[in-house]
Amino acid sequence: MPSREPGHEWWRSAVVYQVYPRSFQDSDGDGVGDIPGIISRVDYLHDLGVDVVWLSPVYRSPHDDNGYDISDYEDIDPTFGTLADIDELIAQLHTRGMRLVMDLVVNHTSDEHAWFVDSRTGRESAHADWYMWRDPRPGTVGGEPGAEPNNWGSFFSGSAWQWEPSRGQYYLHLFSKKQPDLNWENPVVREAIAAMMNRWLDRGIDGFRMDVINFISKDAALPDGAVLETGFGDGMPYFANGPRLQEYLAEMKANVFDGRSGDYLTVGEMPAATPELAASLTDARTGQLSMIFQFEHVGLDHDGVKWNVGALDLRDLKTSFGRWQDALAENGWNSLYWNNHDQPRIVSRWGNDREHWYASATALATVLHLHRGTPYVYQGEELGMTNVPFDDIAALRDIESVNHYAVAVDLLGQEPAAVLDALRRMSRDNARTPMQWTAEPGAGFTSASPWIGLNANHDRVNAAAQVGDPNSVFAHYRRLIALRHSDPVVVHGDFRMLLPDDSSVYAFTRELDGTSLLVVANLSDEAVPCDLRGDELVLTNLPEDTASGLLAPWEARIYRTRA
Ligand code: NOJ
Repeated sequence: MPSREPGHEWWRSAVVYQVYPRSFQDSDGDGVGDIPGIISRVDYLHDLGVDVVWLSPVYRSPHDDNGYDISDYEDIDPTFGTLADIDELIAQLHTRGMRLVMDLVVNHTSDEHAWFVDSRTGRESAHADWYMWRDPRPGTVGGEPGAEPNNWGSFFSGSAWQWEPSRGQYYLHLFSKKQPDLNWENPVVREAIAAMMNRWLDRGIDGFRMDVINFISKDAALPDGAVLETGFGDGMPYFANGPRLQEYLAEMKANVFDGRSGDYLTVGEMPAATPELAASLTDARTGQLSMIFQFEHVGLDHDGVKWNVGALDLRDLKTSFGRWQDALAENGWNSLYWNNHDQPRIVSRWGNDREHWYASATALATVLHLHRGTPYVYQGEELGMTNVPFDDIAALRDIESVNHYAVAVDLLGQEPAAVLDALRRMSRDNARTPMQWTAEPGAGFTSASPWIGLNANHDRVNAAAQVGDPNSVFAHYRRLIALRHSDPVVVHGDFRMLLPDDSSVYAFTRELDGTSLLVVANLSDEAVPCDLRGDELVLTNLPEDTASGLLAPWEARIYRTRA
């Protein structure tokens, strides 16, 4: 029986692997990944050593935002398979001692969800109060420019409000207009969501990744926000980490998780969360969630607007990670990630995907996985998959990227080449091209034309070339995951940052019961002197040359010292 003692739950020693189903494995030759495809790759994941699969949404959806717009929480989209396929995936994972975490997208639904279809018909409908409906701004005419209830912009460009003539009102959509925000103030909405979650847990899943869950409680006054470069107001201060967030999550915990004998992984995606909030939410005895995804580190190379991309100063990364490690050290818990389906590929972003591709992919992995927290591996990260050299806007599929290009170029008159350059670096589609299984024409992903183009480098960067090669990125990830499973210091050890002012070397220790691990990594293209050592070299990514006193470019070492 796995431990449920607070502080020792199974998910603290686990490594999670995120599958983005559209792009993982196509089994039926339609160019889109599916659940039977995932099932055919479970042995690959088992061989890598991961404990949990987090599956991005596979529910019924019109796919305006690739499944993050759900029209039926209770069914699987035919593109991906059937409920029987999900049952089979759960069974195949459980047979191997692995688990399945599903995405939970309940800040909003699709506008094609039956709840919204009814809600928009009129103010007397059964679901009238299930969404964020508001009258036009006083003194204006609904539907005309400037009549929106407030000035908030949507994450996917344009206003966050959509006029609905049949109600004579606007509805709020923080994301696309096909993603109306649910009204969490309505207790009936919260009950319906809890009931749906309970049905999924009854089906046998092992937890939820909760999409933008810290947006569910909005400031009831919905005030105008400070006007940004886009011309729209910043609503973040009024909808992120809102007044009733912890109350709603505590209610969810009571109604969904507390009565069960199992122990579930719950991870809340929380842009703009603070370490203090995270410490409270993830407190082993009193918190509401296992862990959260915070965004501080992935914002360090831009100035608030992700399209204004700059270089990373490594010292900022240390300050940020160090702060989160310290704030959650006593009772809280961190998630650890470089990548997911919304972030560019880490080896291209903060590594060097040209002359130091292997070393930088493995050095960055080493640093991340040795922090205290639960590491997440995003599909293809374990192969060192890179960003994509998109040379035409027509190659992009992501709603955020496509809308941004249209607004920046057509409305704001920005230089198309400059806009495309920023997209090449930051677009979410960098993470969404198909998994590179082989060097073959469809990369082993599909026999058809894929829904988004393959990265041409699949002829070199692919699983077939790496699995079984002890010097591969894959093998290094495998060793890091195995180390976490075998050494309790990696899971539970105290964290201490070293060399905070060094802009090339990332170094820290982990310590538990007299045993310490020392991690030293040169995260730069130049060799650097470094005299930090421990007794026993546990893991390294490059051939050992301790005599020179230098760390080679992107060299990473883990030492163990026993008292
Ligand atoms: C966060 C998800 O990760 C992202 O892909 C999605 O577009 C938004 N939430 C809206 O659901």
